[in-house]
Amino acid sequence: MDSDTVLEARGLSREFKGFVAVKAVDLRVRRGTIHALIGPNGAGKSTVFNLLTGFLAPTRGRILYKGRDITRAKPADVARMGLVRSFQISAVFPHLSVLENVRVALQRPLGTSFHFWKPQAGLHALHDRAHALLEAVNLADRAARPAGELPYGRKRALEIATTLALDPEVLLLDEPLAGMGHEDIERTAALIRRVAAHRTVLMVEHNLSVVADLSDTITVLRRGEVLAEGPYATVSRDPQVVEAYLGTEAVHA
Ligand SMILES: Nc1ncnc2c1ncn2[C@@H]1O[C@H](COP(=O)(O)OP(=O)(O)OP(=O)(O)O)[C@@H](O)[C@H]1O
Ligand SMILES: [Mg+2]
Repeated sequence: MDSDTVLEARGLSREFKGFVAVKAVDLRVRRGTIHALIGPNGAGKSTVFNLLTGFLAPTRGRILYKGRDITRAKPADVARMGLVRSFQISAVFPHLSVLENVRVALQRPLGTSFHFWKPQAGLHALHDRAHALLEAVNLADRAARPAGELPYGRKRALEIATTLALDPEVLLLDEPLAGMGHEDIERTAALIRRVAAHRTVLMVEHNLSVVADLSDTITVLRRGEVLAEGPYATVSRDPQVVEAYLGTEAVHA
């Protein structure tokens, strides 16, 4: 694994009762980049995320993170190592306040009591950290409101804040813009760019104009296989990519 690569999949495959959802995927995510994983519905994008973060075990293949083999690692261990994912479906606690949602995330033990012993986990420090995260996602003015009251796009921003609470080195975002209106899309895209200044981002996203705008590298999946990889200008001209998207979405942003 060269030092530029922070996360790598080699020959990654996953079958579900004989159905091959992910087929011999090779993926190399370079440190400090925004890397997008795109492809039609059912291409295997979320399954790749589940494999990379230990939520699913691969049928074949290996996963390397910072040079370590994490193929069989548990989700909590993977997260503790700094590889953290968000989910495609919204996952906030609706009855807790916006601030409490972030505090809960900051206190998440991740299968060890280690975090409780960190000096900055004192109550005031926790409160300050939570506020800083809310500032980062533009939610500070909603801190005291129940999370369930947030409009959809702001809820997704809160989820990004709870994910950032784990201080990931590599952040995996599954469709961070799904279901958002124009204004939230712009805000969230700007947030992803800010967040990526200090870490690596791997994201699954169907909004191709944002993908084109944000990504250094794009990997296109189709029926579980890598169809193309490169910068947007290259993959968007690839005839196989255009064909994979015909009838579903325009590939030209
Ligand atoms: N637990 C499972 N059991 C059986 N089949 C599954 C399972 N998870 C995913 N699949 C199948 O694997 C394929 C890939 O699914 P996946 O969710 O990874 O696609 P995706 O690219 O994320 O699609 P979308 O863009 O719709 O989110 C689909 O055909 C799906 O039905
Ligand atoms: Mg998916």
